[in-house]
Amino acid sequence: MEVEEGRARVKVEGVFYNPRMRFCRDLDMLVFATMDSKEYFDALSASGIRGIRAALEAGKKAVFNDINPKAVKAIEENLRENGVGGEVINGDAAAVMRQRAFEHIDIDPFGSPAPFIDSACFSAKRYLSVTATDTAALCGSATNSGLKKYGAFAVKTDVYHEVGLRMLIGFVVREATKYEKALFPLISWVREHYYRVHFKIKKSTAMSARVYEKMGYLAYCSTCLRKKVLGMGEGAERCECGGKFSLIGPIWLGELKQRDFTEKVAEKAEGKLRAFLEKILAEIDAPTAYSLPALAKIHSLTLPPTDVVVGELKKLGYEASRTHYCGFCVKTDADRDMVVKILRSRKII
Ligand SMILES: C[S@@+](CC[C@H](N)C(=O)[O-])C[C@H]1O[C@@H](n2cnc3c(N)ncnc32)[C@H](O)[C@@H]1O
Ligand SMILES: [Zn+2]
Repeated sequence: MEVEEGRARVKVEGVFYNPRMRFCRDLDMLVFATMDSKEYFDALSASGIRGIRAALEAGKKAVFNDINPKAVKAIEENLRENGVGGEVINGDAAAVMRQRAFEHIDIDPFGSPAPFIDSACFSAKRYLSVTATDTAALCGSATNSGLKKYGAFAVKTDVYHEVGLRMLIGFVVREATKYEKALFPLISWVREHYYRVHFKIKKSTAMSARVYEKMGYLAYCSTCLRKKVLGMGEGAERCECGGKFSLIGPIWLGELKQRDFTEKVAEKAEGKLRAFLEKILAEIDAPTAYSLPALAKIHSLTLPPTDVVVGELKKLGYEASRTHYCGFCVKTDADRDMVVKILRSRKII
């Protein structure tokens, strides 16, 4: 079977190809075109679609790798068909990355990227892109899997994708600091069944220590959904409602995107991609988000439109926005009691 995607045409017989990831690859091409790098290492290539598109649409010099010899044959054939040159390696991605440095590495595995992140952080010089489809392990639905793979604790909250994306970023950032590298998300998103993050890398002893200023915990109360931001080493008392806090983390508490970079990506985008990027750009950086239906349910309140709540919070001087991953959630630096107060003031009697 042959598929057409972007400027590429690839044969996908006998290799992994997921048409549902097309939107991700389309968006990736705009991200890659915004990065000032030349070399791109498609560490888990399958059909080679990502690297081939990176070469055709973003002008990259792609290097391909897959452990499966069938995939290597498919990549070689697809390179010929598309008139694209590029080295093809048949190895274990972790071993290849231990032996050789790459300017930009892309880790797009089945499920969890965790087994590849240490060597990717060791090898990558300027950029690192990561996909995770094991969202249950990251977002608190599968607490033990999260501990085993990402060394962080989470329970399922009312805004599980916020937690999941931050757990993934936190893990990758921490894995890099032992190599004196500071990683910063340039853009990241949650969509359907996966999380995607593109990082910029700075090799610096001082900066790799300072990333921990943006690492920490969310104290989360499952009774009232309150969330408090705690830095590394900080503690939390009992929740004001009398409930007990769970400490979720360590997770990334910093920005999920770099605004300048994301704006440049958005300038290149049209249609659905543009609309999606606008949502990401509209989002504030606070790690504290709330599901309005979940809060409304606790207090038996009627649900106002999300935009109304965001508007009210802003009027009161708080930072507030919608989120790109949930239509009924708000992100705000206001306390949960303030959000409830706004919901309450709109109660229909
Ligand atoms: C999810 S697919 C990659 C999809 C591809 N990037 C795309 O956009 O269509 C994962 C690929 O990783 C390969 N793989 C699994 N373990 C690997 C390893 N340790 N080293 C290299 N490749 C591996 C599999 O053979 C499979 O082709
Ligand atoms: Zn509480």
